[in-house]
Amino acid sequence: MNEKLKHAILARKSVRSYDGKMPSKEQTEQIKAYMADRSNYACPFGSSLRMELLEHGNVGTRNVIKKPPMYVIVIIRNTRESLIDAGYIFERFILFVESLGLNTCYLNSGFQRETVQLAEPLAEDEIMILASPIGFAAEKKSFVEKGSRWFLKAGKRKILDEMFFDHSLGSPVKTPQVREKLEYVRWAPSAVNAQPWRIIFEGEKARFYITTKAKASRRAEYNIHILDIGIALCHYVLAFGHSSFIKEENVPNPEEMNYILTVE
Ligand SMILES: Cc1cc2nc3c(=O)[nH]c(=O)nc-3n(C[C@H](O)[C@H](O)[C@H](O)COP(=O)(O)O)c2cc1C
Repeated sequence: MNEKLKHAILARKSVRSYDGKMPSKEQTEQIKAYMADRSNYACPFGSSLRMELLEHGNVGTRNVIKKPPMYVIVIIRNTRESLIDAGYIFERFILFVESLGLNTCYLNSGFQRETVQLAEPLAEDEIMILASPIGFAAEKKSFVEKGSRWFLKAGKRKILDEMFFDHSLGSPVKTPQVREKLEYVRWAPSAVNAQPWRIIFEGEKARFYITTKAKASRRAEYNIHILDIGIALCHYVLAFGHSSFIKEENVPNPEEMNYILTVE
């Protein structure tokens, strides 16, 4: 795995307090070049997604994000596949931005769409699914940031044995080399730190599931935790180097889990 991305996976933390300084011209150019390169939009279901960089705009976070120098906005069509693809593509982007020495924070419920001025307005069937500030962390976290990290247990994750299984639930993965790689999946970010991904290995196949315990907000028109699965898929592909995605038929569906996709 690319060492810089590997480091970014383990070092990244959501940052909500910035020092207000703009990324350098070089960093901004690198971000724009990444966004313009269509090969960076390859994803499991081939959905189309667009991103816009707001170099001076605001996204209305009710002061949760302090002194953000710029934002990126992610726009998709609202389907289950697009949500997975959005997590997959955007996480790769986030890791790239972090590898440039910058900080970020996923926002879904935490920004007000009506305050965002896009260069290319939304088509009728498009939604703004995510935003993230891009900048440098302030020396001190705001009071709000400290509170939200504490509330979300943001510095913690479930243990491997609760999420990754061999052949069936209740049989955690034992192979040390596989466990080592799974650490990179374990540290993926997720909405409200729900960590809804589960993997059941069947030989070389990694079957991804979502736990039905991770529920959509009642007000939302989609389940944001589906997008979390795309984020975990991104980390899996980076850690294991496997990237053949298949939708299998007649896969066992254990209680409280829904099958999403297999990687081999
Ligand atoms: C899809 C998604 C949506 C998120 N939405 C918000 C949000 O609206 N507001 C916010 O403050 N954090 C949001 N987060 C950040 C998560 O709370 C954070 O990733 C999680 O608590 C783990 O903390 P970490 O990113 O520092 O590892 C979101 C994260 C993801 C992956």
